Amino acid sequence: MRIAVIAALLGSACGFEEARLARLKAAEAEYQNLKSAPERERWLVTRGEHVYLNGGDGGIGCAGCHGPEGKGSPGVFPPLVGQGEHMGDCANHARIVIQGLSKPLTINGHTYTMPMPAQPGLSDIDIAAVISYERTQWGNTYGWCAPKDVAAVR
Ligand code: HEC
Repeated sequence: MRIAVIAALLGSACGFEEARLARLKAAEAEYQNLKSAPERERWLVTRGEHVYLNGGDGGIGCAGCHGPEGKGSPGVFPPLVGQGEHMGDCANHARIVIQGLSKPLTINGHTYTMPMPAQPGLSDIDIAAVISYERTQWGNTYGWCAPKDVAAVR
């Protein structure tokens, strides 16, 4: 009986993982089918809004801490507007999501000492999507990042 329960739980966990990989594969195929850069950017930014607000497959998103409009919370969570030092470069930006960040930052006179959790479980495509979203919203004009930019960091 106990073995049957464990087997059923394992089975459903594998089923979830299989479904997640299938969704990921479908998303990658959809992205690869887009031929022009503007189409790819639009696709990533649309997906990125969802990841930012709700989390992607395997991550907790960003809005819970950085706020729905990237304004953060002074002294607790830094804003994501105008942070060229961290967001100007796709590799640096992707690395912050994959590895997290724990170095004190001072932005607009406020100091941030809490670490940001790493989200290595987010796929390359979801990280490219969410950072592309951040980089092109709220007055940011850093430009979008491709999944291959994220893959290069891993
Ligand atoms: C649990 C809260 C939390 C979540 C969720 C979170 N962050 Fe952060 N983030 C922080 C904190 C705290 C810092 C400051 C870390 C430090 O000073 O070392 C930070 C720093 C940053 C920075 C660098 C500083 C800046 O303002 O430019 C970037 C970029 C960033 N986060 C992007 C993201 C992205 C993208 C996501 C979602 C994939 C995300 N964060 C999710 C709390 C969070």
